[in-house]
Amino acid sequence: MPVITCIDDLKRLHKRRTPKMFYDYAESGSYTEQTFRENTSDFAKLRLRQRVAVDMSGRSTKSQMIGEDVAMPVALAPVGLTGMQHADGEILAAKAAEKMGVPFTLSTMSICSIEDVAEHTTKPFWFQVYTLRDDDFMRRLFERARAANCSAIVITVDLQILGQRHKDLKNGLSAPPKLTPASIANMMTKVKWGLGMLQTKRRFFGNIVGHAKGVSDPTNLAAWTAEAFDMSLDWARIAKFKEMWGGKIILKGILDADDARKALAVGADAIVVSNHGGRQLDGAISSISALPSIIDAVGDKIEVHMDSGIRSGQDVLKALALGAKGTYIGRAYVNGLGAMGEAGVTKSLEVIQKELLTTMGLVGERSIDGLGRHNLLIPKGFEGDWEK
Ligand code: GLV
Repeated sequence: MPVITCIDDLKRLHKRRTPKMFYDYAESGSYTEQTFRENTSDFAKLRLRQRVAVDMSGRSTKSQMIGEDVAMPVALAPVGLTGMQHADGEILAAKAAEKMGVPFTLSTMSICSIEDVAEHTTKPFWFQVYTLRDDDFMRRLFERARAANCSAIVITVDLQILGQRHKDLKNGLSAPPKLTPASIANMMTKVKWGLGMLQTKRRFFGNIVGHAKGVSDPTNLAAWTAEAFDMSLDWARIAKFKEMWGGKIILKGILDADDARKALAVGADAIVVSNHGGRQLDGAISSISALPSIIDAVGDKIEVHMDSGIRSGQDVLKALALGAKGTYIGRAYVNGLGAMGEAGVTKSLEVIQKELLTTMGLVGERSIDGLGRHNLLIPKGFEGDWEK
């Protein structure tokens, strides 16, 4: 067993152990992947200020996200098809998150259903919602989330149409995978994965199949987003969903200060600064570079979270120091899941927490609350020097 010291180690194992179709699905951005790449490379432009001879004993990563206690402000992001990376993937990830004391967000596009995850966990999780045209489906989805005791709904606002990911089309991505000579040949080399999949009944989009009407091929993500998603989504409809749910709402996919103000106006409890991991609008700025201006616009009025590009505890610290109250990891935990199931998700969280705790010490901070822009060297024009 290789020694695992960082997320990249888990990523290598993930690639080796999981069918190409699903590894590629996780490890893609849309079109040229410019935004996908810059999400990570822009983190490296921020430098940390080293401070010494500051008492660093008793450091803690404990904090809160939307009023809930968290062991560290790092939630598991909603990730589609997680149950294809490893059998029962969403259940395993939710269990790892619960044991670690961080929030788990279940995707609408999950393989395990809301009910499956609720049955295997004891703490409330968050549920991510894609807004479909079918109001009945939406109402039932909220009822199911309520019955499952979800403590917040995360509405994704940046995916009404799917940004094209070339690899998914070339691989013929579907859940369950279609059996073609190429997919069979590839899956034959992933023996453990295959045995796990044969032993579970969860191989379809669990929140959709049997629940959504008018979806001609529910195994094909691109086809059913094109058919079922609501192209007319606007702020009034988001406000209506807030009313339909009646509980806490997090709006995910905000990359512009004007949209952040609109999210505030519809009464969101938090926003997630995100470009969907570089999977949607290719050519958009990186999420970390968009964060400062959004914090400046609304950070004192609403809780601002961020995702897209976080692969380490140092990245988490940079986002928090810029003013985010919470962060999310997607690929970083999926790498762990694909590498070694629940233990891999736990490992990814442990790696990030340890990196965060060490880096806090080296910048001279003992608490998450103490982090701020004083911990960073921010290059001039970090967001980009754009014509207005
Ligand atoms: C779904 O959210 C995706 O990005 O594939």
